[in-house]
Amino acid sequence: MSNDQTAAALVREVARRRTFAIISHPDAGKTTLTEKLLLYGGAIEEAGSVRARKNQRRATSDYMSMEQSRGISINSTVLQFEYDGHCLNLLDTPGHQDFSEDTYRTLHAADCAVMVLDAAKGIEPQTRKLFHVCRNRGIPILGFINKMDQPSLDPFELLDQIEKELLIDVVAMNWPIGSGPDFQGVYDIPAQMVHSFERSSNARRAPSKVSGIDDPALGATIGTRAWDELKEAGELLGAVGAGFDRGRFLDGNLVPLYFGSAINNFGVEPFLRAVLEHAPAPTPKRTPGGMIEPANEEFTGFVFKIQANMDPRHRDRLAFLRVVSGKFEKDMELFHPRLGRKVRMTRPHRLFARDRETVEVAYPGDVLGFVNPGLFRIGDSVAESAEVRFDAIPRFNPEHFARLRPSRVDRRKQFEKGIHQLEEEGVVQLLFDTDGRRSEPILAVVGELQFDVLATRLRDEYNVETVLHRLPHKMVRWLSSEGKTPENLHYAGSSMLVEDLHGHRAIIFSDKWELDYLLKNSPGLHLSETQPES
Ligand code: G4P
Repeated sequence: MSNDQTAAALVREVARRRTFAIISHPDAGKTTLTEKLLLYGGAIEEAGSVRARKNQRRATSDYMSMEQSRGISINSTVLQFEYDGHCLNLLDTPGHQDFSEDTYRTLHAADCAVMVLDAAKGIEPQTRKLFHVCRNRGIPILGFINKMDQPSLDPFELLDQIEKELLIDVVAMNWPIGSGPDFQGVYDIPAQMVHSFERSSNARRAPSKVSGIDDPALGATIGTRAWDELKEAGELLGAVGAGFDRGRFLDGNLVPLYFGSAINNFGVEPFLRAVLEHAPAPTPKRTPGGMIEPANEEFTGFVFKIQANMDPRHRDRLAFLRVVSGKFEKDMELFHPRLGRKVRMTRPHRLFARDRETVEVAYPGDVLGFVNPGLFRIGDSVAESAEVRFDAIPRFNPEHFARLRPSRVDRRKQFEKGIHQLEEEGVVQLLFDTDGRRSEPILAVVGELQFDVLATRLRDEYNVETVLHRLPHKMVRWLSSEGKTPENLHYAGSSMLVEDLHGHRAIIFSDKWELDYLLKNSPGLHLSETQPES
């Protein structure tokens, strides 16, 4: 291929890609929607019915034994599928709040988010938290209001609640026809199409075009009562008057909303089409030297997740790399600025939950898995020629602290190896006493379940039983990386000085009072909520 043809092929591949993450409060229907999207994409043949999943504690996108035994989704998986000439990369995220840090990192690799809401519950705590992460990063969001087949809040009430609680403008892109037991379809507002289905068999009917909400053909399709209700809603919607503005959506200031029912496969395909139509193609990413455009021919990418033992059959660690620009080719030699040398990118994998296949090429927006013999850490950048470093992936500050030690002294070596590897994966953060008097590390986590994950994995993968001792601390503040730690700090209560693996110093506190006391009594002390970059 000539250079021009290569460049044109890259532009084409970028244009047809969509990389998005699904976020929700647990039980809103994220797994069900994911399965249905994959089904449309032909990526799976049968949606492992969610009921079967919950009974068997197995799903296409859940793989760890702890996930299986607790029925929660801990790790994010990456699923790639084709639909209508497009290539979609779906980044699944854990629903449980204790693993929101994992979600946070995954959102860093996504260009768009799909927010699934339960129509009976509207905004729930985890939706709120994840929404704010997207908002702070300016990630555009499409909303899917699920479970319309069950008794739900009034659609207008839902719109109002979302706007008020999230302080964001929303626009209904379709409107439910009936609700609960009478839910029979959606009216696609911009396209003036009716999508209806037969409740008795759950079969979809072919979408029918109407010439507007007043078209009598609509009445014939959905029945007089539903038609009257829809006309009434149409008048109210017209009075509200907000239209869809793609620019505002892409800036993260407007959320288009779609009603549907994932389990009945209802409204799912139009939603998938909306993702293709509205979600952005892979977006440029920031470096201190400027933005890197996806169509830039030089290959660049960054690691946003490290994971070990995704599959007991492969006892290894995978680094998940998001392609930012250029075309990836197997065995490429790339610069690794943190290590200050080139690395050969062998054995790239495309991941489909448990399964993986070797890939020869990849394009911006794609996610590759590399078997990681200790080469990568979360946030590492790689590039073909120049020393590109993408902006660091921000971390949530830990809120729970504990000391951990192996129950048997003769397992100390395996213990050390395990906790260091798991820290690199981002399972926990390790902090140490600065005076070196105690060798047991302090574990710092965002959600308490991370302690359980760590203990389970140390036991199952490193054969180390551990003893956990909770500490009263609840917050951490970082000292700036420049300058020395001020002397004569006046600590109150249990506050104490610690350092991370990279030598960054921090102070942990049990409450705000201890923090205020230290600041008041230690002139010249500057503390930051943000951990310095390593
Ligand atoms: P999550 O990943 O967000 O946690 O949610 P998941 O898809 O596992 O769905 C949570 C529950 O909601 C499941 O029921 C699922 O069947 C149900 N559900 C998902 N979409 C819809 C929908 O459109 N309509 C209705 N009525 N229910 C839906 P469960 O009780 O946990 O399991 P099961 O007893 O149904 O198997």
